Amino acid sequence: MANENLKQAKKAKNDEFYTQWCDIEKEIMAYIEYNPDVFRDKTILLPCDDPEWSNFTKFFAQNFENFGLKKLISTSYAYESKNINAPYQISLFEEQAPHFDIDKTKIKGKIFTLDHDTNQNGVIDIEDLEWQYLEGDGDFRSDEVKKLRDEADIIITNPPFSLFREFIAWIFDAKKKFITIANKNCVTYKEIFKQIKNNKMWSGRTEWSGGLWFETMDKNNVDKVVNGVNLKNVSSVWFTNLEHGRRHQPLQLMTMADNIKHSKHKEVRGHEYQKYDNYDAIEVPYTDAIPSDYDGVMGVPISFLDKYCPEQFKMLGIMNTGEENKGIRYPNTPHGRPIINGREIYLRILIKRKT
Ligand SMILES: C[S@@+](CC[C@H](N)C(=O)[O-])C[C@H]1O[C@@H](n2cnc3c(N)ncnc32)[C@H](O)[C@@H]1O
Repeated sequence: MANENLKQAKKAKNDEFYTQWCDIEKEIMAYIEYNPDVFRDKTILLPCDDPEWSNFTKFFAQNFENFGLKKLISTSYAYESKNINAPYQISLFEEQAPHFDIDKTKIKGKIFTLDHDTNQNGVIDIEDLEWQYLEGDGDFRSDEVKKLRDEADIIITNPPFSLFREFIAWIFDAKKKFITIANKNCVTYKEIFKQIKNNKMWSGRTEWSGGLWFETMDKNNVDKVVNGVNLKNVSSVWFTNLEHGRRHQPLQLMTMADNIKHSKHKEVRGHEYQKYDNYDAIEVPYTDAIPSDYDGVMGVPISFLDKYCPEQFKMLGIMNTGEENKGIRYPNTPHGRPIINGREIYLRILIKRKT
């Protein structure tokens, strides 16, 4: 039980990571490069944000005119509802506002909106942001935040990883466009994999290698400090259902014979591709070792999703747990993972070349 509590606390703490400006800029500018009007006349909602401390709201407020936004809304989650390992800090922005309320500051969420030049200085930017306390704590599942979701065209955030399944369901329920950060392992959740497999969501523009570095307020959980900022590396990636160019660039691949002759990977060079004991597919241990001329089913690592071009490959399923993957069952695998020569290996995604 004590162990369980510890696990829960660890999990909850993992929700408090703040996205760096440079990572937001790199990802978001890629959508603009692909389609300069992607955000034009759109209402963008940034839920699960903390606009006073985090960068999504600042980034979009500063680019309000550049992107041609119609309206920006962001909501924050109340301090007392968070499982945060950092003391409460009121921002000057809140404290100096005429409607600052000491009874609400810790227990209510906030809503920040931007849609016109409130200070009439000729530009709409962060200085024009207006805010109010929400009725509740800003939980994205609450009716008041749901209403904001329904009003929005695009939802963008780094949500709490511990609630990621619910968060994605919340977006899909309302059929919204989105850009979000997620833990890499979320692809193994049945509900998430289904959306990826059906091409309803895909990897964002930023490449997967190395995970993302987040700002953290938890001084006991820091991987490195850069310019006085505490950073934590989390194995996380961007997901979206907005188009970006990289998704349609086919992988440049060698034939099976050339891989066996020339692959840089010693597991591939000089060996035949192995077949699984428990499924009729070949094992491909690296995405760049996918043979260009193999027509059967292939098992590839999850990092393949970063390079997945739907015009090049069809995604069939995932060899993971015993979860149902339409049309594919693994009767001999207790955990559904691929087995080679009696040995279970790491989960694999099953793909087939499109002809
Ligand atoms: C990973 S952090 C990211 C914060 C910010 N969006 C950013 O990227 O810098 C997720 C935030 O969601 C908040 N959160 C946790 N549960 C929530 C809920 N049910 N509804 C809304 N926000 C929640 C956490 O307190 C945390 O601040």
